Amino acid sequence: MTPARRNFLKLFGSSIGIIAAETFAPARAQGGAKASVPTTSRKLLIAHRGASAYAPEHTLESYQLALKQDADFVEPDLQITRDGVLVCLHDLTLDRTTNVKEVFPRDFREGLVDGTPTRLWYVTDFTLRQIKQLDAGSWFNVKFKGARVPTFQEAIDLVRGKAGLYPETKAPEVYSQHGFDMERLVLNVLKKNRLDQRSAARHTPVIIQSFSPKSLRKLSGTLKTKLPLVLLIGEEGRARWLTAAGLAEAKQFASGIGPAKALLNKSLVMQAHALGLSVTPYTFRSSNPGRFKTVREEMSYYLHTLDVDALFTDNPDLFPRAPVKE
Ligand code: G3P
Ligand code: CA
Repeated sequence: MTPARRNFLKLFGSSIGIIAAETFAPARAQGGAKASVPTTSRKLLIAHRGASAYAPEHTLESYQLALKQDADFVEPDLQITRDGVLVCLHDLTLDRTTNVKEVFPRDFREGLVDGTPTRLWYVTDFTLRQIKQLDAGSWFNVKFKGARVPTFQEAIDLVRGKAGLYPETKAPEVYSQHGFDMERLVLNVLKKNRLDQRSAARHTPVIIQSFSPKSLRKLSGTLKTKLPLVLLIGEEGRARWLTAAGLAEAKQFASGIGPAKALLNKSLVMQAHALGLSVTPYTFRSSNPGRFKTVREEMSYYLHTLDVDALFTDNPDLFPRAPVKE
C-alpha cells in the first residue's frame, strides 16, 4: 500500500465505503433546492477493466496494476460460463481477448457481425475449466502470456480491503435465455463475501452498474439490494434517459447515472445532482482524449469543470485529483 493510500484511508473515515455511500447517495437536496454538500467532495477513480491501458483488460494483472495506481474502484464486467460461474470479461465471446480459436478451434457458433457470417466462441459455451486453459494476455502483449480470465470471486479476493468493486451486469437478458439469473448470481457471490450490504463493506464498497434498466430494477425491486446502482447510458439511451423525465425515472431505481462522456454537459450534471443522482461518465483513455491535448486535461475538465462525481478510465495513473490547467 502506498503512503498516499494509507493517508487516504486514514483521512476518510478509514474507508472508501463512506465516500461511496456519500457520493452515490448524494446528500444533495431534490427539487432544485440548494444542495447540502456531501462531507467529502473527493472524486472517485474507477479503473476501467483494470489499468487496461497498460495491461490486458480484465486480468488479475490489470486489476493489480489499478490498485498500485491508487484506483478507488476496480471495474469487472461480468459474463457467465456454461457451468454457471461469473467471470470477468467485457465481451460475450472469448475471441478478442483470448486464444480460444487456437485451443478450441471447432467449438464456435456462427453468428452475424455487421451482417457478415462470423465464427464466434461464446463464454456461455465453455466451462470454467476450459476457460482457465486460455491465454488472456498475449493478445495485448507477449509479456502477459499466460494471464487468465479471472472469476468474479478471484477479482474480489484480489481487490477486497484495498479498493471498491464496480461490477457490471453484461447482457443479463442474453444469459436469461440460457437459464441463468445473472442478478441473483452476482448478489449470491457478494453475499458469500459479506459485500452485499453497504454497512458491511466499509473497506470494499460495491456499486453495481448496468446498461439494462430491467436488470437494475430487478436488483432494487425484486431482489431488494441496498447497494448503490448506476444506470449506464449510451447513445441509444440518450433520448430515453437524458431528459428531465428520464432522470426522474432513473432515480426510482438507481442512485446514479453513467453516461457516455460525449452525451454530458453542465446542465445535465446539474439536473442529475438536483435529483440526488451521481454522475459517472465513461470512458477516458490516453489513446483518445477527444478535443483535449491529453486525457489528463480531458478528465480534469469533466471532474472539475462539469463537476462529475467519478469517472471510468483506462489510465488510473493519469487521474487528476486536482484541476489541471488546459
Ligand atoms: O461500464 C462503464 C463502461 O465500461 C461501459 O462501457 O462497453 O466498456 O463496458 P463498456
Ligand atoms: Ca463496463
